[in-house]
Amino acid sequence: MDEEKLDLSTPIEWESPEEQVAAIAFFNAAFRAEESGLRQAHEIADEVAAWDPELAETLRLYGDEEGWHQSLLTEFIAYLGGTIKPMGPTTRTFYKLYARAKKHETIVLTNLMFETIGATTYRLALRTAKPRPAIRQMLTILTRDESFHVPLNVHFLRRILAHEETAPKRRRELRRLYHLLTASLMASAAASRRRAKPFDHIPFGTLARAYAEHLGRLFLHADDLGFTPSRALLATVGLRRKDLLGHDDVLSVAAAERSADRSAVVVSAL
Ligand SMILES: [Fe+2]
Ligand SMILES: [Fe+2]
Repeated sequence: MDEEKLDLSTPIEWESPEEQVAAIAFFNAAFRAEESGLRQAHEIADEVAAWDPELAETLRLYGDEEGWHQSLLTEFIAYLGGTIKPMGPTTRTFYKLYARAKKHETIVLTNLMFETIGATTYRLALRTAKPRPAIRQMLTILTRDESFHVPLNVHFLRRILAHEETAPKRRRELRRLYHLLTASLMASAAASRRRAKPFDHIPFGTLARAYAEHLGRLFLHADDLGFTPSRALLATVGLRRKDLLGHDDVLSVAAAERSADRSAVVVSAL
């Protein structure tokens, strides 16, 4: 897909200056996610190479794909009339904590959850942002590839946990991290609304609920990993555990294979 080009030939007619500022903020957030995914994947790859060179190669290719997204977004943000901006305080805190994570399973779990909320936000925005061809193309590329990154990161997580024969204590720590991140990412929807809502038009309640739902059902088909969404947290957005059942399996090898051939993937809005 490296040869895929954005068609930026038609300039965007903004509804208001606020919409333009918000669009630039929206894609700046995407840019930071790509940047961080790329760095972490490559860092882990170097260490994983010692025990599984093929897995390491997959991590490098995955990091490279995030690097490709980052370069598309650089071009795209300039097209929107913006620049790459320093991170806001909420985002900075997140990435600082994330960058400090050293254990591979912590990095991969965090990354997996970021991929999930990324794909969820892009899919919602495909429906709610004012439709324009270039914006649609950018969101479609990101949605398509991030949807593949979700099963891919689950695979990384499984392999790393299996390799390290993770102790029950460490598993418990990871489960705590899962709950903490779910709550923090739901709360981060409030910060992102202040900046990006005039562009994507997604209400806070919709976004927080979508995050809870998608982060919750992420592991429904992977109960070997032992991450079960908190009933109390789901209740804050009016969801019950049983609402998460009956969804497609997004994590299996079959799911990864379905989304690996990008030319065959059908991207749908949420
Ligand atoms: Fe990406
Ligand atoms: Fe990704």
